[in-house]
Amino acid sequence: MRLHGTMKVIEDTLYIGGVSSLDLVKKYSTPLYVFDEELIRNNCKDYVTSFKVKENKNKVAYAGKAFLPTYMCKLIDEEGLYLDVVSGGELYTAYKADFPMEKILFHGNNKTLEEIKMGVDFGVGVFVVDNFYELSILEKICAEKNIIQNIYFRITPGIEAHTHEYIKTGQIDSKFGFALINGDFHVAIENLKKHKHINLIGLHAHIGSQIFQVEPFEQEVEVMLELVKDLKDNHNIDIIELDFGGGIGVYYVEGDEPKTIKEYCEAIINKCEEKCKELKINVPTLIIEPGRSLVANAGSTLYSIGSIKEIKDVRIYVSVDGGMTDNIRPSLYQAGYECAIVNKMNSTTKKHNVTIAGKCCESGDILISNTDVLDIESGDILITTSTGAYGYSMASNYNKIPKNPVVFVNKNEDRLVCKRQSYDDLLSLEL
Ligand code: LLP
Repeated sequence: MRLHGTMKVIEDTLYIGGVSSLDLVKKYSTPLYVFDEELIRNNCKDYVTSFKVKENKNKVAYAGKAFLPTYMCKLIDEEGLYLDVVSGGELYTAYKADFPMEKILFHGNNKTLEEIKMGVDFGVGVFVVDNFYELSILEKICAEKNIIQNIYFRITPGIEAHTHEYIKTGQIDSKFGFALINGDFHVAIENLKKHKHINLIGLHAHIGSQIFQVEPFEQEVEVMLELVKDLKDNHNIDIIELDFGGGIGVYYVEGDEPKTIKEYCEAIINKCEEKCKELKINVPTLIIEPGRSLVANAGSTLYSIGSIKEIKDVRIYVSVDGGMTDNIRPSLYQAGYECAIVNKMNSTTKKHNVTIAGKCCESGDILISNTDVLDIESGDILITTSTGAYGYSMASNYNKIPKNPVVFVNKNEDRLVCKRQSYDDLLSLEL
């Protein structure tokens, strides 16, 4: 298992942020999400420097869907990031965390009337308008309030990125955005002329998630900048902000070779400069929306091992006290993870090939298939690493299993950021 961020092994035990994982288990029990705050902050700083936030006034907007407790809103605000939200719930979280509303980009392919009203009332900086329906509702609401709302148009650039089918978004067959190929985007531009309360300042595209190459992003830059030129030349519209979405991949398991934050940012910035020179246009303000690459490797999950079932010549099932309710990604995307026994980090006993199973009533509730672990016993504590993105945010209460608490560790201290759900919390909506 690769050690991420501040992880260290001291006398057989895994420490994160200077805190013993076994002490965390004693204090908070399992299953438990643990976040390495220093690693998240370092990733933010890396983005801010590499994407030239201060030098060029570019913007890095954290994609809140990856993991958004109020504490994260505060943290990214302190680090100088913007925030991308996709629902009333995420927007409300940011609002309650006192996140500056003008630094919010409001995404979503089917924002409801209530959500659009809420966004306008809160004064979000930019609506990323996805479709004709949203455009007309937004115009109506802004006209009633007599305000002018800044927007980007989300476009579907027609770029195929090599990633899982469910997390690809840039191709023509997508529920998101105005397609370029079928002319929808240009119809939307024509429609704009009737919308007096909407101010188009930017364009947005997102081509997918967990992408390891930079070439699809460079292609995206080219497509977007050609549009900027077309809008200026043929419609006299100035696009001053260009948002390339998120998508840079991270390391989960051996064989994953993601680009660094710096390599990804440099590729986008360099391609923009080159293309703007070629098209003889000014370089707009650039925006990116990383989610996974800011938090994935900073998060881990601690579980207690319960039943160990050996089916001779078939498989050893090692069951933990969580599973698909706290990490749906293996079942949904066949995502791979690494693990270790945090109380036996230096053990040299014989290796066993095992399958780590969750506790849900589903045969598909498998966290890791066929992994080698050292001598494993019931009562040991297992860690799965890189669960920081789309773990807690996609957690469910299937089988009425309460959600894990979230603890941040930093400089030898731990801080509870989200409580464990209680059984009464589970019933709190029932009448
Ligand atoms: N911006 C937009 C408009 C997006 O749709 C997304 C992710 C992002 C930014 C952030 O992308 P990231 O940097 O995290 O790759 N649940 C899936 C991932 C879905 C991503 C959806 N959109 C998973 O667990 O892999």
